Amino acid sequence: MNDHVPLKKLHIKTYGCQMNVYDSERMVDILRPLGYEVSDKPEGADLVLLNTCHIREKAAEKVYSEIGRLREMREEKEARNEGRMTIVVAGCVAQAEGQEIMHRAPAVDLVVGPQAYHQLPELIARAHRTKGERLSADFAPEAKFDALASGSLAADRAVSGPTAFLTVQEGCDKFCTFCVVPYTRGAEWSRPVKSILDEAKALAAKGVRELTLLGQNVNAYNGLGADGQESTLAKLMYALADIEGIDRLRYTTSHPNDMGQDLIDAHRDLPAVMPYLHLPVQSGSDKILRAMNRKHGRQAYFDLIERIKAARPDLALSGDFIVGFPGETDKDFEDTLDLIRRVGYASAFSFKYSPRPGTPASGMPGQVPDEVADARLQTLQALIIEQQQAFKANLIGQTLDILFEKPGRLAGQAIGRSPYLQSVFVEDAADLIGQIHKVKIVANSNNSLRGELLKVLA
Ligand code: SAH
Ligand code: SF4
Ligand code: F3S
Repeated sequence: MNDHVPLKKLHIKTYGCQMNVYDSERMVDILRPLGYEVSDKPEGADLVLLNTCHIREKAAEKVYSEIGRLREMREEKEARNEGRMTIVVAGCVAQAEGQEIMHRAPAVDLVVGPQAYHQLPELIARAHRTKGERLSADFAPEAKFDALASGSLAADRAVSGPTAFLTVQEGCDKFCTFCVVPYTRGAEWSRPVKSILDEAKALAAKGVRELTLLGQNVNAYNGLGADGQESTLAKLMYALADIEGIDRLRYTTSHPNDMGQDLIDAHRDLPAVMPYLHLPVQSGSDKILRAMNRKHGRQAYFDLIERIKAARPDLALSGDFIVGFPGETDKDFEDTLDLIRRVGYASAFSFKYSPRPGTPASGMPGQVPDEVADARLQTLQALIIEQQQAFKANLIGQTLDILFEKPGRLAGQAIGRSPYLQSVFVEDAADLIGQIHKVKIVANSNNSLRGELLKVLA
């Protein structure tokens, strides 16, 4: 007889943004003490958790087909007498359409919104007792972060390599007319400085050197400082950079209207802040920006970028664009292409507008036919790829600080990231993982850059 408590297998599938990635990691941390170990496949798992995204229709629909597959796996598992597979739907689809999930997918045992993850152990135990219970999460991130930050959990946080995500702000008050996030993540809320610093220190102690601070509107961060005053993101970054071991800071995602002067100055004065900024603008047309309720025009975006580049001339930008927003004409789309040409992006994400239930834009006149939006998306993406390639080509011959993250495909290789987030691989560097070194970029090879080690610094 085996006298060990048998480990239960947990499989988590994560959709959507980096905040979901962070949340999934925290859910693993919460469930580990209950005897769950992570399995990279759903087959045979005792608990399967889908951490979902509601941002576009396709993302939301994927969940239902995945549940169908899981139901079959569950039947097979039970037929083998291996016990039950509990199916949990978490994340933004859970928040936005929990009722519908319970209705459309009776196989789901538990639906839990993004603010209730700290209650998972209790909810799972209850779901085992009473099948089909649904929890409707409220918007109270304080309780969630209190639980997640509390001593042991912050300290027990599993890390994988020298980089980590750290959520500092959640929710959004901007109400862009196309977007579900204010409804799925609730109002803007910032974690207190101390709880963030504690988590960062625990991460640094485990070898983390680079933190990416996460928030739906991360640059609107205004958490409470130790002095009882509201902090800003810039102030928070100064405190984080003081932590022994933390050498690089990134933050995402920012709204142009919240780029305060002290944040722009931090790009000039605080070396830990990486010269790479994700600053979505969505469209280059004033008319569309107004209809999107972005609350700024194209000239204000150009002016802002000029100010940021004045502070940090080597800063590179990435962005998000939506094509086919209701009422977008050829001229409006041309304005977007023109904005992209004028700004020049190192990289960008672009999406075809997807009408989301309950958002103001979904009822606007002038919905753009699919074929038109498809063609615009292709044109825009071709331009972005061109800019991305030009940006990478321009790095050849430059010397960049690379943080080595993991071994490469071939023996002796190590793969790291440039300040601009490209993958860079270097030969004979396998023992340098977790360190930052100067690397001369020598070639552009498909998805990554090849570099040569210059000299050892750290
Ligand atoms: N404030 C967060 C928003 C996350 S959504 C951020 O700016 O990152 C990420 C991107 O998805 C948005 O910037 C937008 O470009 C895109 N998006 C949001 N809603 C959309 C919709 N209804 N259709 C298509 N793309 C959308
Ligand atoms: Fe959505 Fe706009 Fe808020 Fe970003 S700023 S999460 S796009 S409502
Ligand atoms: Fe998706 Fe929710 Fe993130 S809708 S993009 S997972 S905040």
